[in-house]
Amino acid sequence: MTLSPSDLHLPSVDWVLSTARSIRRNLDFERPLDMQELLDCIDIAAQAPTGTIGEGWRFVIVMDPEPKARLAKIYTEVLNEFSSMRGVPLKSSHQALISRLHDIPAMIFVCAAAPATAPGSEMTLGQQIGYYGSTLPAAWSLMLALRARHIGSTWTSLLASRQEEVAEILGMPEGTINLVMLPAGYMKGAVLKKAERQPARQITFVDAWGQPPE
Ligand SMILES: Cc1cc2nc3c(=O)[nH]c(=O)nc-3n(C[C@H](O)[C@H](O)[C@H](O)COP(=O)(O)O)c2cc1C
Repeated sequence: MTLSPSDLHLPSVDWVLSTARSIRRNLDFERPLDMQELLDCIDIAAQAPTGTIGEGWRFVIVMDPEPKARLAKIYTEVLNEFSSMRGVPLKSSHQALISRLHDIPAMIFVCAAAPATAPGSEMTLGQQIGYYGSTLPAAWSLMLALRARHIGSTWTSLLASRQEEVAEILGMPEGTINLVMLPAGYMKGAVLKKAERQPARQITFVDAWGQPPE
């Protein structure tokens, strides 16, 4: 199907873009996700811009209960460590997700090919920006494509701090990095609304930093 820009229903596009909230509890944990639907979303994600690593992105959909249980356990540990380190109790939505993460219909990992830097050398800031920027847009497109199909998820990166264990569970090749994990399921009773954000006029400058739009 080919659409022209005039076929777009702009309010729908804007609605999807601006209501892709984290959905941690209003998910149907009993209803399996349709694999073809997930692959369609990944085809859309793969249309995202990419830079230095080209199409070095890889997606791992985990539906098997055994690895899901192991990954959920690690996620819970990291979240609890994070919360005690910051001295703030877990929000109820985070509690709700970890209490059922082991039986989420799918954990979708967005991974990136090993960086092309010489062994033992650190990436410069510019290289890091190119490297992460080559894959993260695909993860966001994936979340939006899911959202447009009534599949809720949350952008999570807590598992990125336990690279080796996750790589072992997923059988990832050496050097490959897991960047984002989207715990996904069909939405059930989720209320979709815009977040409170600063308006464009407060966060935008024209021609030079500090100069507001007319
Ligand atoms: C880089 C990044 C990492 C995040 N990691 C996590 C995470 O590991 N777990 C989680 O529950 N939410 C995570 N979030 C989601 C934010 O916490 C979420 O966007 C925030 O709760 C605001 O809610 P909203 O997305 O509904 O506006 C992350 C978001 C970003 C941008």
